[in-house]
Amino acid sequence: MDRDEPPVQPHPNGAAAGGILATVLGTGKRLSVNAGPALPAALSYHRSMPSRTPVILDCDPGHDDALAITLALARPELDLLAVTTVAGNAPLEATTRNALRVLTLLGRTAIPVAAGAARPLVRPLHVAVNVHGTSGLDGADLPEPGVAARPEHAVELMRALIEASPDPVTLIPTGPLTNIALLIRTYPRLLERVSRICLMGGAVGEGNATASAEFNIWADPDAAAIVFEAGRPLTMIGLDVTHLALVSAADAARMAALGTRTGRVFADLLEFFGRFHRERYGWDGSPIHDAVAVAHVALPGLVRTETCRVDIETTSELTRGRTVADRAGLTGRDPNAEIGLGIDRGRFVDLLVEAVAAFA
Ligand code: BDR
Ligand code: CA
Repeated sequence: MDRDEPPVQPHPNGAAAGGILATVLGTGKRLSVNAGPALPAALSYHRSMPSRTPVILDCDPGHDDALAITLALARPELDLLAVTTVAGNAPLEATTRNALRVLTLLGRTAIPVAAGAARPLVRPLHVAVNVHGTSGLDGADLPEPGVAARPEHAVELMRALIEASPDPVTLIPTGPLTNIALLIRTYPRLLERVSRICLMGGAVGEGNATASAEFNIWADPDAAAIVFEAGRPLTMIGLDVTHLALVSAADAARMAALGTRTGRVFADLLEFFGRFHRERYGWDGSPIHDAVAVAHVALPGLVRTETCRVDIETTSELTRGRTVADRAGLTGRDPNAEIGLGIDRGRFVDLLVEAVAAFA
């Protein structure tokens, strides 16, 4: 393996470090280099469109992740190099299958998909069945996957794409940050080739997994701490802004009225997703959290942001996964994040409807 440096000391039994990581994470996959077939489609497409921002979406679909994928594919400002998956809303097998089903629905099966971590770095896995259903994407008639995931680990696919990209790559994580933390720890020098990380997760205010914490950060706080301390430009699209990005039943009806299969599927997904938010919060509509992170990369200015220091609580069970945002500068520590605080909801909804309308 030609990693920058070993992430852990060699195991006494002689196993390679990558093998240990993979075993620890329960994927059964080694972080081997050059695994799987070549990647001509994504890379040659990218090279022919130099003005687009190359992005990798690391996700756990997930209703809002599905819309994030759709928006990333539809926006002319973005070049989606790959979709990588992580356990979060559902177990890894389900989130990977869901990513493949969404890309199949959209007719974009040439976008490479690779599965990553099957569980958080340290904590046991907790999935969000109550929000997304047992499949992780309940409520709609999605097609079976038209292609398989690539054989290599998500971290290896990210490495290959980042190394091969002529322009620095933007990472958009919309699930627990396990894969991104592994990438950072396994290939630290590759970070120079990552222009920024724009993630969905966290909250200055109240959480949604617990009163203290948002789900993606709560699910793997140890990974989140690594990512927030990585030293790369980082945007936290947290609940403070995503809870303003509600897509209502009337908005979903606009998707259904497109008269396309994609429009029908997303209207149905939003109907399912909306039930949870109606019961939990009394809202007419669902926050499409993950698509806000994609929209912010595509259209700077859509989200109002502020810069401050954000640290992750990893030890206290009561406040585990809290993103402690020092907006008043009380710590005196250098800012490490831009945090999302406001959004033009109407424009955001129009972007989503336009994105869904771009597919048959
Ligand atoms: C986040 O958690 C998941 O349920 C959603 O997909 C989103 O990424 C919101 O807290
Ligand atoms: Ca998600």
